[in-house]
Amino acid sequence: METKKAGLSKDRQKKIIDMVSGYWKMLALAALCMVVVAGANGAMALLVKPVMDDIFIAKNKEMLLLIPGLAILVFFLKGAGTYGSEYLMNYIGEKIIRYFRDGLYEKITDLPIAFIHKEKTGALMSRITNDVNIVKGMVSTAVINLFRDFFSVIAFLCVIFYRDWKLALGAFIVLPLAFYPILIFGRRVRRFSTGSQETMADLNAFLHETFTGAKIIKIFSLGNFEKKRFKEKTGELFRLEMKKVVAKALSSPVMEFLGGLGIAFIIWFGGMRVINGTSTPGIFFSFLTAVMMLYDPVKKLSKLNNTIQEGVAAASRIFDVLEEETVIREKEDAVVLDEPVCDVAFEDVRFSYAPDEDPALDNINFTVAPGEVLALVGMSGGGKTSLVNLVPRLYDVTGGRVTIAGHDVRDLTIDSLRAHISIVTQEPILFNETVRENIRYGKMDATDREIEDAARAAFAHDFIQRFPHGYDTVIGELGSRLSGGEKQRLCIARALIKNAPVLILDEATSALDSQAEKVVQKALENLMKGRTSFVIAHRLSTIDYASRIILLKNGAIAEQGTHDELMAQKGAYYELQSMQAAKGSSGAETIPSSSPAAVARA
Ligand SMILES: Nc1ncnc2c1ncn2[C@@H]1O[C@H](COP(=O)(O)OP(=O)(O)O)[C@@H](O)[C@H]1O
Ligand SMILES: [Mg+2]
Repeated sequence: METKKAGLSKDRQKKIIDMVSGYWKMLALAALCMVVVAGANGAMALLVKPVMDDIFIAKNKEMLLLIPGLAILVFFLKGAGTYGSEYLMNYIGEKIIRYFRDGLYEKITDLPIAFIHKEKTGALMSRITNDVNIVKGMVSTAVINLFRDFFSVIAFLCVIFYRDWKLALGAFIVLPLAFYPILIFGRRVRRFSTGSQETMADLNAFLHETFTGAKIIKIFSLGNFEKKRFKEKTGELFRLEMKKVVAKALSSPVMEFLGGLGIAFIIWFGGMRVINGTSTPGIFFSFLTAVMMLYDPVKKLSKLNNTIQEGVAAASRIFDVLEEETVIREKEDAVVLDEPVCDVAFEDVRFSYAPDEDPALDNINFTVAPGEVLALVGMSGGGKTSLVNLVPRLYDVTGGRVTIAGHDVRDLTIDSLRAHISIVTQEPILFNETVRENIRYGKMDATDREIEDAARAAFAHDFIQRFPHGYDTVIGELGSRLSGGEKQRLCIARALIKNAPVLILDEATSALDSQAEKVVQKALENLMKGRTSFVIAHRLSTIDYASRIILLKNGAIAEQGTHDELMAQKGAYYELQSMQAAKGSSGAETIPSSSPAAVARA
């Protein structure tokens, strides 16, 4: 287990140290506060002697006033020092949390879509929420403990040796016995807590998955199956937690008992010295107090390793993400694309999702001129979505090239390339903001007027107006009341407002019923005028206006031509047509989503 944990490389250590040392003034001040705390701790043990010898035994009245005053001062200093060090160290810790969070979010946002698909969403979220906290724990708690407890240990040792060095030497032969088990137990606890952390992360991912998939689980009656799986996971967690509890719960009593042996020795040896007059009761109790107070910082110091280990593991996970290679990178001398119209060409394009996988696309060649509408058809899994994803560089080609306005897309700045492309994806993705903001995502500086115009063009205005707060309704408020067709129309409005030269519609109207589709289709056709358009259609009847049709089959172009040409060929396209004609034009929704009935369903 220990060896499995990746330590931090020199490089990563240096990054953390650089980050922390940026706050050296605060660190120095915090260290000063910690010295004050340690000094106050030592002073408390020291004060026991005058209390005993001067007040109780000698009954000195002056001391009766002086000592309580000193006690107040010592406690005040300890309090002030504790506050100061906690505040400063947590300030630095929180700063570091924020630095890591922002860095992770930026990185994950910029990483290619493939990375996000590969990692579990829950795991990525846990990087930004949990792991970052653990690292903070390492930086603030560990540093606080390291310095404050270390200084305290020194202070107590000084008191112990100052009071009675002979007794001290005797005790230090016996006491280490009590400290050895700390190491053993610490190691066990650490091992189980790594296990339970991993199980916890797994549990999080599981929850995320099953809650987002709640509908499927209900429909497929997977409830009992999922409950059983969940119970297995909580069972495993229970087992690990209990092992941790046993190790933890045993460690204190065992240590205390062994410590008790040490104390017994001190009482025997120290008592003997008081009886034969070489020591006083004050010295003895002051000594004993310091020894007992030593226990707490030593225990904390022994746990420090644990905190640091956890922190190091979390930091490695964070750095793994931060250092993930961005495969889709911008060239140093990337060109800024700025063209009112663009043609798009695929030249010998080959593409596979993973190096060892069969290509999802192979030998793709075609050009789409401005004003042209290229329709992509074929059975699902044919590679249509994969093909259009290459244009905005959501993925990079494996072979050949994709050009836009004559430039290889990889030679352009990513921002300028994507500014020229508007896309309606297959899954209608909306964010939990207002309807207005969702449309505005297409053009951040759009006026409310422009937003409404876009919504009208996408035939979304009417249903938006029926929302509780119209355009200001937050998507989340609508819950599942928003139908697939409505979502698609909001996405279309968002794409329309972007007004980009290249337009990609990936089954953009598939969730609309035939009637609504015809209307939206008109709007889209207007929009496509003068642009370079890719239309992926699931109903062939909706693409008869396309200038050219490409039929993809297993990632290759099987047929290519106009509707009439392909029909005349009597090949795969013809078959697909006749298949759909036989089924009749099946609407994806039986209730027109713009009708009051659609709203009433909520
Ligand atoms: N993110 C992905 N990772 C790996 N394979 C994928 C991914 N997306 C799609 N594929 C595979 O690529 C092929 C083409 O898929 P896709 O482009 O989505 O087809 P279409 O849009 O025509 O239905 C399919 O075999 C699919 O399983
Ligand atoms: Mg697709």
